[in-house]
Formats: sequence, structure tokens, C-alpha cells
Amino acid sequence: MDISRRRFLSFMGRGAALATLAPSAVLAACSGNAEAAAFQLKPVSPSLEDDLQLAEGFTYQNLISRGMPINEDGSLTFGDNNDYLALIPDADDPNKGMLWVNHEALTPLLISGFDYQGEKTKAQIEAEMPYVGGSILRVEKNSDGQWTVIKGDPRNKRLDGWSEIPFTGNTSIAGSTTAIGTFGNCAGGVTPWGNILTCEENTRDYYGDVIFDDSGNRSIDHEPAFYQWFRHTQRPPEHYGWVVEVNLQTGEAEKHVSMGRFAHECATVKELDDKRCVVYTGDDDEDEHLYKFIGDTPGSLHTGKLYVANLEKGAWVSLMLEDQPVLREHFKDQVEVMVRCREAAKLVGATPLDRPEDIEIDPVTGAVLVTLTNNKPKGNYHGSILRLVEEDGNYESMAFSAETFLAGGEESGFSCPDNMAFDSKGNLWLTCDISGGSIGEAPYQSFGNNGLYYIPMSGPDAGKVIQIASAPNNAEFTGPYFSPDGKELFLSVQHPGEKSKSKDEFTSHWPEGGSAEPKSSVVVIGGPAMEALMA
Ligand code: FEO
Ligand code: CA
Ligand code: CA
Ligand code: CA
Repeated sequence: MDISRRRFLSFMGRGAALATLAPSAVLAACSGNAEAAAFQLKPVSPSLEDDLQLAEGFTYQNLISRGMPINEDGSLTFGDNNDYLALIPDADDPNKGMLWVNHEALTPLLISGFDYQGEKTKAQIEAEMPYVGGSILRVEKNSDGQWTVIKGDPRNKRLDGWSEIPFTGNTSIAGSTTAIGTFGNCAGGVTPWGNILTCEENTRDYYGDVIFDDSGNRSIDHEPAFYQWFRHTQRPPEHYGWVVEVNLQTGEAEKHVSMGRFAHECATVKELDDKRCVVYTGDDDEDEHLYKFIGDTPGSLHTGKLYVANLEKGAWVSLMLEDQPVLREHFKDQVEVMVRCREAAKLVGATPLDRPEDIEIDPVTGAVLVTLTNNKPKGNYHGSILRLVEEDGNYESMAFSAETFLAGGEESGFSCPDNMAFDSKGNLWLTCDISGGSIGEAPYQSFGNNGLYYIPMSGPDAGKVIQIASAPNNAEFTGPYFSPDGKELFLSVQHPGEKSKSKDEFTSHWPEGGSAEPKSSVVVIGGPAMEALMA
């Protein structure tokens, strides 16, 4: 161990001291070959600068920002608050492909001009509806190494608050086999057949929540509907909170009933030898649960069985009526179990968790990593990453072991873990989501603005947390997704300036700077340091 690395490791144990020590700190990257081992990775310091700051040797290009046209006549525009990203390359050319982008939410001041006072008008709500959902974009890498959106491609499409999307199996839910709109699209997944799974998370923000009393009587609570869309059109809250599968070639979408309805963060697919799929999906709310779906048909997610995790017993517990007398006592059919999935999970003994967010499967060990972002009412401010290992490495197993892989906090150097991605070397990339109003405040001062982190998974630095990027004000990084050659990272910069109270005083001016209004954007991170890490 050389002096500089000793110094690095010692300051990793003192998060608050990072700002003064980091510029001179270096670390040998652990990529497993001589060239990479000689490379010195210098982290970026935690910062409250309104900028996208990168560690030395990393560069970025801005691919697309909120409001940019995505077709030639300008009738379709890129939505707000971009989150999950997935790039499906062409079979014959990895420099061309279809990029999916989630639009999780919107910043009303920037979209409809709503100033957070009183009631929204119908015109304001209708102005907001095209900015959520997702974008399908044809992209390619130019000879100069820059990625661009091909505006003339007929496959470019938007899903938004107006899209008509059927439920799988022609299932009727709250009186209709079709939902109007998808929103709250947080993280997601990719199917082996190249479709996208986009997950509807905080859907109560739009049309409110549905509540069932002990007798099963239904009522609607508009209190949680921050965006107030219910004021001008009432839509059943049961139509939202699903995993939505999207075909990137056609734009066709469907809402998967068999994976349950809750605040789905992500849907991470593991294909089995016989081409059936297991899907892991978490419910990102305090004390909600972790689920596993096991499909029963090769090449399809339409039907299968849903399970929920009991961590005390290390058991996946069935949520199927046929297996659970207690569910038969409470619900009339399996569709009702899926619509009221949170209630069903509690009836069968699901373990309450600290807000399960992203899930990734370690490509080397096969372990299932789950970020648990925080649980403030329970005094857990920094969250952790859970490592779940299926019994005998069998993803269909009903038994597993689980332990904390990394705990957030000043000691480890990250807080509120959210999205993850494994790189081609099997190392982990992590983005964090300290909420906009808490950044820079106790107990989060030492972390600065939200960050992107690199975590070696093997070698002498395994488990160390190295900051690669610092986000603009109020923003979080989301949706990390590696390019087909593994040498660039597509990344969302979500909701910069979301705390702005008026257009006269933006809290961020990123990406354009000066006095410009802030814009959520997709960036592509590369540069010699990334090349060296992936060599
Ligand atoms: Fe949309 Fe749970 O983060
Ligand atoms: Ca988020
Ligand atoms: Ca998230
Ligand atoms: Ca989050």
C-alpha cells in the first residue's frame, strides 16, 4: 500500500474530512489487469456547487434535455424528470440503438407555471400531462464519438398522461380493461426479448389513493395528490402502480397485472434456463416490501406466481389465493389480491423494509443487491444495500439468506442509496437520493449534493465507495446504464432546481448556466478515466 492510498483509505473513514483531502487522494483501480492497475483514480470531493462535477479524467456530453423536440415537426417533446434509462443496441451495430427514458415526475413551476398556491387550472394540468411517462428515442454514436438523438426516426414516441394502455389478460380493473396514462415511472428493467419494463412508483401524487375499509368498501383519498390532476378528471387510482412493458420498436405497452400494484421502484429480470423469467421488484415506501415474480411461460411475463419476502424466515411467501387461506378470507379473486397487494403482503407476514429501491444481480456471484434508501420515521437516515442470496443459487428457490452488504453513513461515504448498475468488470456504480430539501442539512452535510459512486467488488479496495460525480443543486443522478461497449455511462440528471419557488429565483441554472432555467437532462459520461477503468 503506497502513502497516497493509505491516505485515501484513512479519509474514507472520516466522511466530513473528504472535502479537504480528496484532491490529493489517489486509488489504484481494481480491474484485474496490469494497465488498469497502474491507473490512479482520483475521486471528486463532495460539493454544494450548482454543477455536474466529475472526478479527474471523466468527461460528459449532454444528450437531451427536458422540452427538446424528439421528432421533426416538434409535435413530440422530451419529458421532465428523466429517470431510468435502457439502451437496446441494434443486433448488427452497437453504435445504434433504441434508448428508453422514464419521466418519473415533473416540476410544476417549470412546466405549467403553477406557483404552488391554491388550485391548479385545467389548462395547467393539461400542460403537465405530456411531461410524464417515458420517451422512446432512436440514438446513434457519431464518428466523433458523440451520441445523438435521430429526430427523423419514426420509432421516436412518447408515453404520457394521455396514453391508453391495456391491462394484461384483458383484465378489468375498476371497471375498465384500459388505463389512461402512465406516470411515476421511476426505475425499470429489460426483458430478454428486448422490451422495457417501466415501473409506476409514486402514482398517488396524481389522482390520489384508493382505500378499502374492513368491509371492502372503496373510497378515494385525494389528500396525497400533490399534482392535483384529480381536480379536472377523476381516474381510478387502481389503474396506476403497475409494471408496464413497452415494445421499443412499436411503442405498444401493457400493464402487468400479475406483478401486483404498489409503488414499484424497479423490475429486475433474471432469465431461467428454460426461458421463463424471475422478476424482482420492490415497493419504495416506508415499511413496504420486496417481491419476486416467477413466470410460468417462456418468453412472457403475462402469468406466473407472485411472492413476497419474509427476511426473518429467509422465505419467499406466496401471494396466490390457491396457496393462502388467509387471502381467500379477505379477497374475492386473484385480481383483487394484485390490486390490493400491500394489504395482501401484510396478511401473509411480509417483512417491512426501509424503502426498497433499485435491485441488481451481481454478475459474478449471482447475489441479488437491493438498495434500502432510508426510513426516517425509524431513525434510519442513511440507508443500506442488502445482499440476498437464493438457496443453492436457484432463482426459483423459496428460501434465501440476506445480510447488509454496505451501510450508508459518514463512515462509508454515501447516504440514501437509490440506483445501481454493474459495469463490464463486475464493479458496482451507485447513485444516491438525499431529498432536495435535506441536501446540505443535518445529518447530510458531509455528503454535499447527490453523487455518483464507484464501488470495487473485488481486490484490496472491495467495498470502498469512491465518488465519481457530484450533481447540480437539488438534483439526483438516476438511471445509470452502460453503453453497449461498456465504456460510457448513460445517466439521468433529475430535477435540478426543483426547490425553486419562482422563476425569478431558480435554485439551479444547470445545464445552460447563467440565468437559464434548470432542465432535467440525460448525459453520457466517458473520458480517459472511464476507458482506463474498463480496460
Ligand atoms: Fe423514484 Fe423510489 O425512487
Ligand atoms: Ca427518484
Ligand atoms: Ca429511485
Ligand atoms: Ca429515491
